[in-house]
Amino acid sequence: MARGIDVGTMNIVSARQDGSDTVFTQQRNSFVEIEYSDMAEQMLSRSQVLHIRKDDSVYVVGDDALNFANIFKQETRRPMSHGILSSDEKSAIPMIKLILEQVAGEPEHPRERLFFSTPADPIDSDLNTLYHQKTLESLLGDMGYDPEPINEGMAVIYSELADHDFTGLGVSFGAGMTNVCLSYYAVPVMTFSIARGGDWIDEQTARATGQKVDKVTSIKEDDFRLDFKTDVGGVEGALSIYYDNLLDYVIENIIAEVNEEDVEEGLDVPVVVTGGTSSPKGFEKLFQDRLNESNVPFSISDVRRARAPMYSVASGALVAARTEDGGYDDGAEAEAGAEAGEAEAESDD
Ligand SMILES: Nc1ncnc2c1ncn2[C@@H]1O[C@H](COP(=O)(O)OP(=O)(O)OP(=O)(O)O)[C@@H](O)[C@H]1O
Ligand SMILES: [Mg+2]
Repeated sequence: MARGIDVGTMNIVSARQDGSDTVFTQQRNSFVEIEYSDMAEQMLSRSQVLHIRKDDSVYVVGDDALNFANIFKQETRRPMSHGILSSDEKSAIPMIKLILEQVAGEPEHPRERLFFSTPADPIDSDLNTLYHQKTLESLLGDMGYDPEPINEGMAVIYSELADHDFTGLGVSFGAGMTNVCLSYYAVPVMTFSIARGGDWIDEQTARATGQKVDKVTSIKEDDFRLDFKTDVGGVEGALSIYYDNLLDYVIENIIAEVNEEDVEEGLDVPVVVTGGTSSPKGFEKLFQDRLNESNVPFSISDVRRARAPMYSVASGALVAARTEDGGYDDGAEAEAGAEAGEAEAESDD
């Protein structure tokens, strides 16, 4: 068997095949530090909250971190920022290790093949992804897997463009980054990332409106839509402005990279958008409008949104791992996509 893992700035998601189903496991890539007491540790263990003790502290890790942060009036901390391990977070590696162990689980057999997503080096900052990639490789190797990195944009192509011969432009709008990949018959023609995503939208909106970042994030994730004009002056109005700005910035960089890479001009390709930041209603329409207004030097047949934006990178990593294992077939892949759609539908409830 084989596995795929999406190692994201905000979410870590694994995908594995179980018969004809794809099973996804997800944790928030964050943690909170609380003071140690025997009682607290016993309670945490009994309630199966993911946690780890170190000296006088207990770290609550993953999805539960947010609840504990609210109760103990703490800020959550993140092992990653801008798509890679954070150099400012001294506990980054033990925390991400714990989340990876929980999300990936034990390998089914020694050296099970596992593809994990990594971002391309960003073109708008001097961040370098090598240390991040090598560290994950060694953590996953220590867990008993045979790990292999896959570019996040390419994973989107694998999961979303099987019906298009793996040809098109895939864009993953995440928390810390936006990853772009132009692929022609499963061969990447251009891959790059930019160090802006949902976190950037939240930070800018918070600064503009004087709200706390956490508050802005929850307004954005709860009921924010991009398909109608919002009132000027409020958080939603500011969110719209920064969404617009992010899309223009991404398109500007696509044009610059296509020109630089000398991509053939006669191309006519579909565009697929995914990632948590692509969730608000109206997102793909806005991206399509902005693309139409721009002078992208190739033609675009349509802009579609992944059926399950939170799962498509993990799905694509799984497709890549299974293909290498000799297990790829169109039918199973289509089902992986359908399952992802169902998983999302369930989580919407
Ligand atoms: N319903 C929603 N509406 C708007 N934004 C959302 C929604 N749900 C999640 N997000 C945002 O999506 C982002 C997380 O998306 P995703 O899980 O794809 O990122 P990631 O893979 O962890 O990050 P990256 O790829 O940048 O490392 C966050 O900025 C989050 O606030
Ligand atoms: Mg991502």
